Amino acid sequence: MKVASIVGARPQFIKAVPISKEIRKNHREILIHTGQHYDEEMSAIFFEQLGIPEPDYNIGVGSASQGKQTADMLAGIEEVILAEKPDIVLVYGDTNSTLAGALVAAKLNIPLAHVEAGLRSFDKSMPEEVNRILTDHVSDYLFCPTQTAIDNLRNEGFTNVFNEGKFVSESCDSPFPTPHLPAVRHGSPLVCNVGDVMFDTAIYFGKVAENKSDILDKLGLNKKEYLLATIHRASNTDNIDNLSQIVEAFCNLNNETLIFPVHPRTRKSLDDNGLLSNLNDSKNVKLIDAVGYLDFLMLEKHAKKILTDSGGVQKEAYFFKVPCITLREATEWVETVEDGWNILVGTNHKVILEAVESFWPDGSQRQVFGDGHTAEKIVKILGESVI
Ligand code: UD1
Ligand code: UDP
Repeated sequence: MKVASIVGARPQFIKAVPISKEIRKNHREILIHTGQHYDEEMSAIFFEQLGIPEPDYNIGVGSASQGKQTADMLAGIEEVILAEKPDIVLVYGDTNSTLAGALVAAKLNIPLAHVEAGLRSFDKSMPEEVNRILTDHVSDYLFCPTQTAIDNLRNEGFTNVFNEGKFVSESCDSPFPTPHLPAVRHGSPLVCNVGDVMFDTAIYFGKVAENKSDILDKLGLNKKEYLLATIHRASNTDNIDNLSQIVEAFCNLNNETLIFPVHPRTRKSLDDNGLLSNLNDSKNVKLIDAVGYLDFLMLEKHAKKILTDSGGVQKEAYFFKVPCITLREATEWVETVEDGWNILVGTNHKVILEAVESFWPDGSQRQVFGDGHTAEKIVKILGESVI
């Protein structure tokens, strides 16, 4: 099987790590980087630290408006796919790189697999929600991370859901027997709950980080004595009211130390709106550039609480049992909220500060993100069914 994997943004490099490794055991992978993220700390550092193979192609689209960026990706990815003729195209998550890869595959009639399918925020003003819905509806393999994702797809009319979304048995030769697999492109798309690939990655690299990352020493931090924040959603960075409220909260944390690795989009917006100096002047806040995955995992694991609008960071907070305060009104990762480890507070500064003060989970967690073997399951299913 020849797989063309398409990545382009920070979380996709992380999701691709275990799947790429698994594909390369018995199959061939062509890795295509769209170039959506390109700064050293947003791209190259992940390839270096996590042992991701050098991309076979980098389309180098860079930053642009939604339409232009996606259009440039479409043209570039199509050229590569036409030349490489893969058996299947694999896309991850919900970025513009995801949608572009999905559209190219669908239009060229090449089977398409979507990793992290079925997630919904039910807010179509988010570019990610549009990317998710469109990608799912042209995919042949929809690899869901959670039962909620399965349920969302069922509600949208998908019927070919295997084993009620549960993997039957590790010891079984083929838990998804080949005769039941769809005739790709012409059959009903296959929907299955394989667990969350970010769980595989976070657990493995969380241990590696303990030995390899010196970020706590570098920043002079004691475990569980600091808060960690990330912000990058358009609804927060491009809305000056929301951004100001968040900054107001961060600057008024009283006795708390806040570590804030800044996404380049956020730095630009803070700067453009005159808010960067407020944060720099605050004695509570330590602004740093975005960091590599190992350092970030280390910061997450040992934080007292995390404040974020990131999807991946909400999950990692849950994996590491760190209370998460989400600076959004909705989340795709509802299990983290249902289990009491995540609270949705929006952007009002008083509500954020109240959560920093008083939000404490009760301790219990379900195993909702799989068993840490998601990559094996995905590649096994593809290997058994892609002709
Ligand atoms: C993108 C994804 C988002 C994902 C996030 C992960 C879309 C629509 N959004 O958002 O779903 O959660 O990646 O981080 O695909 N920039 C740099 N250097 C870089 C990359 C970006 O300076 O290496 C700056 C540019 O000013 C750019 C802005 O960040 O215009 C936004 O980058 P972009 O990739 O368009 O969106 P993200 O906010 O990163
Ligand atoms: N991350 C990182 N360095 C940082 C911030 C985040 O390595 O400075 C990692 C984090 O561990 C998680 C992923 O980036 O795995 C989340 O990506 P991001 O927040 O950019 O996007 P989202 O998950 O919201 O799509």
